[in-house]
Amino acid sequence: MLLLCGVTALQKADCLRARKGGRRIAALTAYDYPSARLLDECGVDVLLVGDSLGMVVLGFPDTTHVTLDHMLHHVAAVSRAQCRALVVGDLPIHSYDHPAQALATARQLVAAGAEAVKLEGGRSQAEQVRAITAAGIPVMGHLGMLPQSVLEEGGYRKKGKTAEQAAALREDALALSDAGVFAIVLESVVPEAARDLTKWLAVPTIGIGCGGLTCDGEVAVVTDLLGSFPWFVPPFAQPEADLAGTTHQAVARYIARVCGEDFLNRNRAKRDGRTVDSK
Ligand code: KIV
Repeated sequence: MLLLCGVTALQKADCLRARKGGRRIAALTAYDYPSARLLDECGVDVLLVGDSLGMVVLGFPDTTHVTLDHMLHHVAAVSRAQCRALVVGDLPIHSYDHPAQALATARQLVAAGAEAVKLEGGRSQAEQVRAITAAGIPVMGHLGMLPQSVLEEGGYRKKGKTAEQAAALREDALALSDAGVFAIVLESVVPEAARDLTKWLAVPTIGIGCGGLTCDGEVAVVTDLLGSFPWFVPPFAQPEADLAGTTHQAVARYIARVCGEDFLNRNRAKRDGRTVDSK
């Protein structure tokens, strides 16, 4: 079991579980050492090394391209920041198809520095969750829109829209809770269903794309929060900064400092298709 600053991973997860209905949980994704340190210094509760890194760090179209090696590399970088927050690593697609495989993968992520793991799915994952929690590794569930199923589902769709979907979510959430998860991410669940599930469930729900204040906490993809991945911004994102804009300005000033204002202006004109300069 990992011991950081005298607090075990299980104690951290238990503290988060105990926040049900109390102080809300603020979770963010992190993929590297400096951002993990910065986010941890701000006091975030959970740092999720999400497989969203496939898109926002590695440039893949979706999370189905993420491998265990990718996850291990990024979990190790985040864990070097010695975070106070709980560091959760995503189990990538097809690394938890059965309980023994799920446990072996979870153990590899823990060896790389994760303190807990997250997996997608409900009733079908209950045995996987049992196998991992029985080994003393905290597990976070993930229900609603499941990014690893995007190809089968043919896109990202809102969940919990019908009474049947809401009932299925409830069954899935109960199965995960009975199997021992300490919290469940709800992704793109319509606000009413997310609110109902949150009231009904014994473990905290952590929402993304479920509307404000519908869950016991929220998780955001850090690049959506900081505005550092401008090429795709989900409709529910609420950026608090424009790091892409700041980067463009800083690099333009650097180019001007190194090559001169004239060169920068010619370069901009060339980029905008106004002139063609062979020099
Ligand atoms: O991979 C990820 O970043 C996630 C969040 C969207 C919850 O699973």
